[in-house]
Amino acid sequence: MNKTILCIGAGYVGGPTMAVIADNCPDYKVIVVDINADRIAAWQSDKLPIYEPGLDEVVKRARGRNLFFSTDVFGGIKEADIIFVSVHTPTKTFGAGAGKAANLQYWEKTARDIVEHADRDKIVIEKSTLPVRTAEAMHRILQSNDKGLNFEVISNPEFMAEGTAVDDLQNPDRVLIGAMETSSGQKALQAIVDIYKNWVPEEKIKTTNVWSSELSKLVSNAMLAQRISSVNSISALCEKTDANIVEVSGAMGLDSRIGPKFLNASVGFGGSCFKKDILNLVYLCEFYGLPEVASYWEQVVLMNEYQERRFVQKIVDRMFNTVAGKKIALFGFAFKANTGDTRESPAIYISKLLLEEQGQLAIHDPEALDNAAIDLKDVEGDYTFEEDPYEAAKGAHAIAILTEWKHFCDLDFERLYHSMQKPAFIFDGRNILDHKRLHKIGFNVYPLGQKALSHLEK
Ligand SMILES: NC(=O)c1ccc[n+]([C@@H]2O[C@H](COP(=O)([O-])OP(=O)(O)OC[C@H]3O[C@@H](n4cnc5c(N)ncnc54)[C@H](O)[C@@H]3O)[C@@H](O)[C@H]2O)c1
Repeated sequence: MNKTILCIGAGYVGGPTMAVIADNCPDYKVIVVDINADRIAAWQSDKLPIYEPGLDEVVKRARGRNLFFSTDVFGGIKEADIIFVSVHTPTKTFGAGAGKAANLQYWEKTARDIVEHADRDKIVIEKSTLPVRTAEAMHRILQSNDKGLNFEVISNPEFMAEGTAVDDLQNPDRVLIGAMETSSGQKALQAIVDIYKNWVPEEKIKTTNVWSSELSKLVSNAMLAQRISSVNSISALCEKTDANIVEVSGAMGLDSRIGPKFLNASVGFGGSCFKKDILNLVYLCEFYGLPEVASYWEQVVLMNEYQERRFVQKIVDRMFNTVAGKKIALFGFAFKANTGDTRESPAIYISKLLLEEQGQLAIHDPEALDNAAIDLKDVEGDYTFEEDPYEAAKGAHAIAILTEWKHFCDLDFERLYHSMQKPAFIFDGRNILDHKRLHKIGFNVYPLGQKALSHLEK
């Protein structure tokens, strides 16, 4: 074996990232550790803890050969030459910066574990998304050891997206590696470049200083979320003017300076990262005395919340100003298609608002129902979870599409229509359905940013 790589944190990032590294680098031993024993047991089993297309195959190829999952964090630290830290960095809920700043307690705990259990020099890599200049604090904690050990801190943020994680990791747009501009920093950087070189073309491996690398990740997420909020804001204007957001996005996206991606109107962005990373950016700007920059980025989050509320308001308005006692089938709970992850999913907020309006919800999602049940466990109201979309829609007044699962387009809408109360409504919060066909079947169809196709309103 060349070197031993350890990853602390076997979550949505740590698991897939290390599986792809192990798969492509058979001469490295890769150990993934976590304090969550259930998660580790799932990584060792046939039912992995997260759903990602293609992940099962990659894990099966490498597991037991050079990929290992374990709860022995301290043993892993001792054995490793290179330590990726991929623990979560949620928004702080207490004290200074509450609601915006990143809570770095999990990250700092791992740094302290490393100091305590290391018995030789190590390279420590920030894989988690962290505020700019975190590496400086980490370096101080690590160097505070009295064993005479040297730790190099490298920033290597992860850009994979859930739902396409394996493909993104296998064929990344770029791999970003930031290091201190010292000779030991540059040596450590080369050790990380050497890992990725096994499968990533060298021109896609971008090296920078450590601060640029940290900030690039935050800003990339902020820019992606900003595109979504920008298009969603225009979807509201389209509904007032009879312009069509699909046509507007299509026309905009043809401009090679803009490009076609991330221009679909939707109920809003979700996921564990976008909101937290923008709020973190806002906090950093406030901290560094840049209030104008902070409020510019904060608006991206506020627009997202507006879009979620606007969607619910539309449902209530169109269903004769009340959903009380009416069954509404929610199709999709995951924050995006091809994942079971529901963290910060717009579906959570939308469900809560509809339940406050005393709607009866039947929630269907092919992968996310377990997480949905956790998200709503303390929420009062009338809601059920349905594996079968036809059961969810039976006797319902409306279907609301909240996630862009492709198979929703292939459902038998004649059958759904005939099982529903009349008038039957569809609110397409992802603009994925064939609206004209649904209207022909008899539905009253409300897309986003497009003219409604209704039998009730002329
Ligand atoms: N989820 C994504 O799509 C994505 C993409 C890019 C970057 N990121 C960033 O990557 C980081 C991790 O995200 P995630 O979605 O994988 O989080 P996650 O919550 O799924 O996983 C984090 C894991 O770390 C473990 N952990 C926490 N403290 C530990 C400790 N002291 N020792 C061992 N294990 C510990 C937790 O038990 C958990 O399983 C975050 O900073 C996130 O912003 C996430």
